[in-house]
Amino acid sequence: MKTTLNTGIPSQIETECLVVAVTDAAENNNSGDKSEKHSPQIQTDDRAVQDAAADLIASGEVTGKMLEIALLHKPQGLNAKRLLLIGGGKANSFSSAELRKLAGAAVRTLKAKDLKSFAFIMPSGVDDAAKSMVEGAFVGNFDPDYYKSDRKEQKIEELTIVASKGANQRSVNSAMEQGRIIGEAQNFTRDLVNEPGNRMTPTILADRAQAMCDETGLQCEIYGPDKIKELKMGAFWSVAQGSDEEPRLIVMRYDPPRAPKKRVLGLVGKGITFDSGGISIKPGEGMEKMKYDMAGGAAMIGAMRAIAQLKPNLKVIGIVCASENMPSGKAQKPGDVQIAMSGKSIEIINTDAEGRLVLADGLHYARELGCTHLIDAATLTGACVVALGMVNAGIFANDDDFYDRFNQSLAKSGEKMWRLPVEDEYRELIKSNIADMVNSAGRWAGAVTAAMFLKEFVGDTPWLHLDIAGVAWMEDNKPWIAKGPSGVPVRSLVEFARDFAQGGS
Ligand code: BES
Ligand code: MN
Ligand code: ZN
Repeated sequence: MKTTLNTGIPSQIETECLVVAVTDAAENNNSGDKSEKHSPQIQTDDRAVQDAAADLIASGEVTGKMLEIALLHKPQGLNAKRLLLIGGGKANSFSSAELRKLAGAAVRTLKAKDLKSFAFIMPSGVDDAAKSMVEGAFVGNFDPDYYKSDRKEQKIEELTIVASKGANQRSVNSAMEQGRIIGEAQNFTRDLVNEPGNRMTPTILADRAQAMCDETGLQCEIYGPDKIKELKMGAFWSVAQGSDEEPRLIVMRYDPPRAPKKRVLGLVGKGITFDSGGISIKPGEGMEKMKYDMAGGAAMIGAMRAIAQLKPNLKVIGIVCASENMPSGKAQKPGDVQIAMSGKSIEIINTDAEGRLVLADGLHYARELGCTHLIDAATLTGACVVALGMVNAGIFANDDDFYDRFNQSLAKSGEKMWRLPVEDEYRELIKSNIADMVNSAGRWAGAVTAAMFLKEFVGDTPWLHLDIAGVAWMEDNKPWIAKGPSGVPVRSLVEFARDFAQGGS
């Protein structure tokens, strides 16, 4: 999708469709009065556009409710063929998060009508408006139905952002470019996650990471079984040993020459390209979904791609532990004891708790490579989905300052996460009779005990763990995004890397 900036007069722009947001400036009335009052406000000061929309607004059909849509053909006084009014919700909470969704929804509405281009009037007074509009438009333009032979090639090919005449064109253009990079990175991740297990093996995932690194100028190292064994990654290998597909350890490095040496961000992703459960095999129903068990790893590859293009002044190392989890005569068994790279011993209770095993060695290795701050992302536990559903990812932290800083990036990215505890009281749940810990605890606090397990491998390094099991794959279409792989948490990781590069030692 091509994006262009236009600082002309909106009503004079020739386009297939002019899009403008409408917010609702009505105060919340707590009077108990059922008749909701609306005060729709069109987000442009162009009188001709206001006039063209006046009847729709006067009729009460347009209220400014979030994602409400009204489409007008041949709008009077405009050079546009159509005028699309799209609701942005309450005026006082209208921010970049809403605007991102509106842009995605406009793309999805108009491409379904086979339009190829449109122009969106940028509302004034919203921080990061141009960036989030472009991000949202790219995300909305993605559909995952690749393998349908009757796939409709409906895509928006050109988006025009309409900014006011006084806008600083340089900075709007640069914001749009950032939005493109981040939106494309998110879609890149969605593409990887979307592929089924037979078309996204550890080898293929590593090849895709390598190709991305070659294109963007990142250093990339890919290791197979020999190196994994040589590094004594006994936890990672215990998962890989059961499969005929070779595992891959993917290491991507972004190392700008003038970056501070004292701070190295490590991004560690779970890359299970198919999780059958292993010997503790999963029930057949729904097992096909376990092709998305590499979503954490794919997010790290996507985030590295955007980081390579946005060039924050910060050293970042991305690590993906890619493997299948399969039952076979070579597979590990419940009761087996494995020695992780750190030297800690693990009693395997359930071979289906494999994500924490590969991450244990990934996190330890990241520290050995010099990472001073760690973030991991993984579709780690069904328990996290039980706790938070498909709305919030779970976030765990051993360091409040690190968490607070990341939390600010969530506000920028619009991605939702809810903090869950990491506390010593939970440690006893992963005690083993014969080893340092078990890989699977009892019934309670499953998302927390998984995090407690990972904590054993990060030492005193500030660390965040993102359990994205519930949010990496969306079961339903949303107006602004197709169902399927979501690409969470690419945007938050990128925002964080950019923020982390600023200030601090
Ligand atoms: N990949 C799964 C977790 C998962 C579940 C991801 C649902 C996405 C949706 C993980 O490897 C797993 O199997 N976890 C087990 C852990 C248990 C055996 C301790 C689980 O959550 O049941
Ligand atoms: Mn599993
Ligand atoms: Zn898994």
